[in-house]
Amino acid sequence: MPAIAPDDQVFVLTGAGVSAESGIPTFRGVNGLWRNYRIEEVASPRAWHRDPRLVWEFYSMRRQVASAARPNPAHLALAKLEKKLQQRLFLCTQNVDNLHELAGSRQVVHMHGELFKSRCDACSRAPFHDTSTYDPPAGIPRCECGGRIRPHICWFGETPFELDRIFGALNECTVFMAVGTSGVVEPAASFVAHVAGRARTIYVGPEEPANASSFTECHLGKAGEVLPDLLGAF
Ligand code: APR
Repeated sequence: MPAIAPDDQVFVLTGAGVSAESGIPTFRGVNGLWRNYRIEEVASPRAWHRDPRLVWEFYSMRRQVASAARPNPAHLALAKLEKKLQQRLFLCTQNVDNLHELAGSRQVVHMHGELFKSRCDACSRAPFHDTSTYDPPAGIPRCECGGRIRPHICWFGETPFELDRIFGALNECTVFMAVGTSGVVEPAASFVAHVAGRARTIYVGPEEPANASSFTECHLGKAGEVLPDLLGAF
């Protein structure tokens, strides 16, 4: 794999596959989360209004699983790359776990929100660090304003976070790498098409993603096994 040039700007997009080897289930694979839960029952504004207790049960389970997980070699390789590239690396993740941060990455853009943050669904109070779990949820936690406290997660039908910063970095990047994402959820699935033709496009994962045709390089394998060598050559 050719090294990157000193003036290359690298954009890395990670998905659930980068945390799979840390024991956090993906969404669509075998044993994927969406095999056991219906998205519309636990991860949408409608679900929140219809059954907030079930939503908190789902995110409490995900908080318990994620808090027991540790970064794997893929997270560590990306944290090492950030030390080397500094501002020439833009790390955008669809994941809501904190394994990139635990591995040492300092600048992580969580476009789908963060599992260990909550916010009020009524007032403009900023999202706050929250590791609480409700099992079973006795009641819905309340803000001082009386609003209901919800997970700080971008649900289906909501707008992902930081899209201006993300597209600014996409417009600047000369190398785009996607790691462990099935390429079916927008807008992340179209990031590669946005840069194709003017950036090297690299995919890392055990199976081809749905948007494979937009990538010029594909490294089939587990992120924890492929990334250390691949990024070590950068
Ligand atoms: N290393 C790298 N990739 C892996 C590994 C691994 N060890 N194990 C599985 N994968 C790949 C799978 O092949 C699959 O392509 O990870 C991908 C996981 O795909 P999804 O489960 O669809 O997860 P993701 O693409 O991140 O989902 C995007 O959908 O449900 C929403 O908001 C949720 O952020 C999520 C978004």
